[in-house]
Amino acid sequence: MRIIITDNYEEMSKKAAAIVRNQIILKPDCVLGLATGDTPIGMYKELIKMHENKEVDFADVTTFNLDEYCKLNRENIQSYYYYMNHNFFKHINVKKENTYIPNGAAKDIDEECRNYERQIKNKGGIDLQVLGIGANGHIGFNEPNINFEAETHLVKLDKMTIEANSRFFSSKDEVPTTAISVGIETIMKSRMLVLLANGEIKADAIYKTVKGKICPEVPASIIQLHPNATMIIEKNAAKLL
Ligand code: GLP
Repeated sequence: MRIIITDNYEEMSKKAAAIVRNQIILKPDCVLGLATGDTPIGMYKELIKMHENKEVDFADVTTFNLDEYCKLNRENIQSYYYYMNHNFFKHINVKKENTYIPNGAAKDIDEECRNYERQIKNKGGIDLQVLGIGANGHIGFNEPNINFEAETHLVKLDKMTIEANSRFFSSKDEVPTTAISVGIETIMKSRMLVLLANGEIKADAIYKTVKGKICPEVPASIIQLHPNATMIIEKNAAKLL
């Protein structure tokens, strides 16, 4: 795993955006795996600027998001569907029909998970997967567990995740308790991984991910086994390395 430590959030975001841009230049019809949360916002802003400057063209790109809350309608401003459209898709020229996000409001969640997995396979898998990391070591919504969940699945959210994500909602009780997440095997099959981390709150998770034992209690630790993974870590998140 390659480790890049940056001086600040802006540098982390610029480096991540440059990697995504280069992927699209190398393969204009590539499949990107995308993440939500606060961390990749700066990267999306940089990519939007690059698009405005005609440095990158999303016309033939396909995207798959990692996860989505259950039981939130897509119009809900806390849904990842809303987040992606608002923070990224509406500012670039990606085709709406080429952007995939699990439907957390689907009636049959198991069928939705199977279908999402099929759609990823039909597009030939993910070329470049962008990841954030939870303070508990989760990637996507793959929470600390007794085993690694392989494919797209229904997740019961960890207490720590509900607590952390309550900052986006008006109260903790409004945070959904379940979600759909792409699984660990699907993430690991991506041809390249780029994980971003920012802030001291991620330092322990980053330490365990990079230096700890590979175990499902720290889902991100599995990245140690990926043949083409890059971690772009802002210096406060890297302080225990
Ligand atoms: C969220 C998302 C993850 C994200 C992580 C960190 O709950 N499901 O995909 O990477 O938690 O979020 P943040 O970047 O806001 O710290």
